[in-house]
Amino acid sequence: MKGEIELPGDKSISHRIAMLAALAEGTCTIRNFNTGADCGATLNCLRQVGVACEGNLTIHPAPLRIPDNPLDCQNSGSTMRMFTGFLAGQDIPATFIGDLSLIRRPMRRLAEPLRQMGAVVRLRDDEYAPVVLEEGVKQPIVYRMPVHSAQVKSAILFAGLKFAGTRVSEPVPTRDHTERLFEYFKVLPGKVKIFPFHYDVPGDPSSAAFLMVGALLRGNSDVTFRNLLMNPYRVAYMRKLHQAGAGIEITNRKLVQNELIADVRVQSGTLHSPIQITPEEAPSLIDEIPVLSLLGAICGFDVSGAGELRHKESDRIEAMASNLTRMGLRVEEREDGYSVWPGPVTETVAETYGDHRIAMAFAAAGVEVDEPDCVRVSFPEFYSILERLNS
Ligand code: S3P
Repeated sequence: MKGEIELPGDKSISHRIAMLAALAEGTCTIRNFNTGADCGATLNCLRQVGVACEGNLTIHPAPLRIPDNPLDCQNSGSTMRMFTGFLAGQDIPATFIGDLSLIRRPMRRLAEPLRQMGAVVRLRDDEYAPVVLEEGVKQPIVYRMPVHSAQVKSAILFAGLKFAGTRVSEPVPTRDHTERLFEYFKVLPGKVKIFPFHYDVPGDPSSAAFLMVGALLRGNSDVTFRNLLMNPYRVAYMRKLHQAGAGIEITNRKLVQNELIADVRVQSGTLHSPIQITPEEAPSLIDEIPVLSLLGAICGFDVSGAGELRHKESDRIEAMASNLTRMGLRVEEREDGYSVWPGPVTETVAETYGDHRIAMAFAAAGVEVDEPDCVRVSFPEFYSILERLNS
C-alpha cells in the first residue's frame, strides 16, 4: 500500500464537539466531522431536542426541549451513554433506544453515577436499554470509576456541567477528549458560557489503525497519514507496531485545539517480536486490539485484562477468536483476553457479527467479510480509501 492521506475526523471527538456546540451562545461550524452513522445518531438526537444541525457541519444552538419520541442511538454506545449524561445535566427527560447490539450492552455503569447525582434513571432489568431518564441530576459527584470507560466518564462530566464540584478519577486513565475540550473552551461547571466556535476535527487514529495493519500485512508499503490525532490514550497501538518491528515515523507534532496531532508514516518492516498487551495498557488501545491481533499470524499476539472487549458492539474476544481459528490459526480464548500463534492462514469468510471494527480488521487483511456494509458506523470511506492506497 502506498500514498498519503488525511482521514475523516475522529469519532470520539466528533460526538463530544457536537454536544458542546449545542451549548454554545451562537452558531458553530465544524470541519471534518466524522461521517459515520454513530456520529449521525448523535446529530439526530440533538435535532430531536431542538438543535438544528446542517450540512457537514453547522450547529445552531437553541433552548433544549423535551423530545417527542424516544431518541434512537442506533449502534452507538457513545451516543447512548454520553447523550444521557448530557441531557441529565440539562434537565431534559428522554428515553433512549438502540439496535439489537446496543440494547444488549451494559448501562448500569452509566445509571449508577447519574443516580448518585440525583437523576432518576430506569433501565430494563436494571442493566439494559431502553434507558429512561425521568429526572436530571441535582448535585455534583466525586466519583471513582469502577470500570474503564471514557464514555461513562464523559457522561458524568457532561451531567456535572450544572453545578461546580464534580470530579471523576480512574484506576487506569482512558481517553481524555472531554477534559481537553472543557479546558480548551474554558467550560466552567455551574456557569457554562461557550462562545460560538469553529472546530477542525483531526483524523481518526482508530480508523488509521486498520489501514496501518493492512499496509504492514502487505510487503513494500509506505503510507503517510496527515493531521492524525495523537492523543496519548489513543495511539498506544503505534508503539506496539513499532516494537513488533514496523517502521513508524512521526513528524510535525503539534498541539492544536488542545489535542496533539502529527503526520505518521508507516513502512513495511519485518515483524520479529510478538505483540503483548497488559491489563494496564488495554484501555489505551481498546478499539485497536482486534486489528492488532491479526498481526498475530505473523509475529504472535497476546492480550489480557481486556474483558471490556466482550461488551463492545459485539463480543470482540469471541468474534476474533472464532474468525482467527477459522483462518487456521492456533488461538487460545480466555475470559479477559486471547492469544494468537503465528502460522499459515487459509481462505475463509469472516463473520462480522454486525460489528464495524471486526469487519474492518478482516477486510484490511484481505479477508472476505459477511457484512461489509457495517463499516458505515464509523468509517464509511474505508473501502474506497483502502482501494486507493492499494492501487
Ligand atoms: C469511546 C470510549 C470507548 C471506545 C469507544 C469510544 C469514547 O468505549 O471503545 O469506541 O469516545 O469515549 P468505553 O467507554 O465503553 O470503553
